[in-house]
Amino acid sequence: MSLLVIWCSPNQEGLTAKCKSALVSGILEYGMECSEVHLNRLNIGRCQVCSTGFGQCAQKGTCVLEDDFNRLYALMQQCDALALVTPVYWHDMAEPLKALLDRVRRCDCKVNHALSGKKAMIVACAGGSGNGAVRCLGLMEDTLKHMGMDVRERIPVTRFSSSYMPKAIQSAAWHLCYELNEKPQ
Ligand SMILES: Cc1cc2nc3c(=O)[nH]c(=O)nc-3n(C[C@H](O)[C@H](O)[C@H](O)COP(=O)(O)O)c2cc1C
Repeated sequence: MSLLVIWCSPNQEGLTAKCKSALVSGILEYGMECSEVHLNRLNIGRCQVCSTGFGQCAQKGTCVLEDDFNRLYALMQQCDALALVTPVYWHDMAEPLKALLDRVRRCDCKVNHALSGKKAMIVACAGGSGNGAVRCLGLMEDTLKHMGMDVRERIPVTRFSSSYMPKAIQSAAWHLCYELNEKPQ
């Protein structure tokens, strides 16, 4: 069993990074294998909206762009569950994650259906007013559900809750591992 943690933020030591580290701690505390992907280090371009709206993604389940997308989409398919952690930008997920999910959705929900049924947890870190954290989670969840993914936990973090939420994230990650590994279905 393995959990893939995908996160983005330009700040290696900001609120998002802190929440991501708490999530990884929960996975390792349980004893499950964990891989981390920092999207800001990868080259994942935006969907080119080929043809009249649907291109190769809708026919073959692959993307015409040759960047880091294919490798990461393969990792997403191979893992047993997925955790996504993003800063809240404009009440939405940050652009690197949006670019990834836009392209994954096109390939997955039309052809591959490889992520359907996969469990996920999502975390949105709002360091400003805190406005938009819940909306951001809603938008992320809509995209994952479009692919048939099973969103088990959605966690908003604001600068007002930033002192105690990392502990909750660690616990939530531990429980997701428990659910994957031991809980009777
Ligand atoms: C472009 C941009 C848009 C933002 N929009 C919001 C927002 O809608 N609501 C909010 O509470 N904070 C907003 N913020 C603040 C970020 O959510 C906050 O800085 C967050 O902690 C970033 O995570 P980091 O610590 O990993 O950088 C925004 C920040 C940026 C740079």
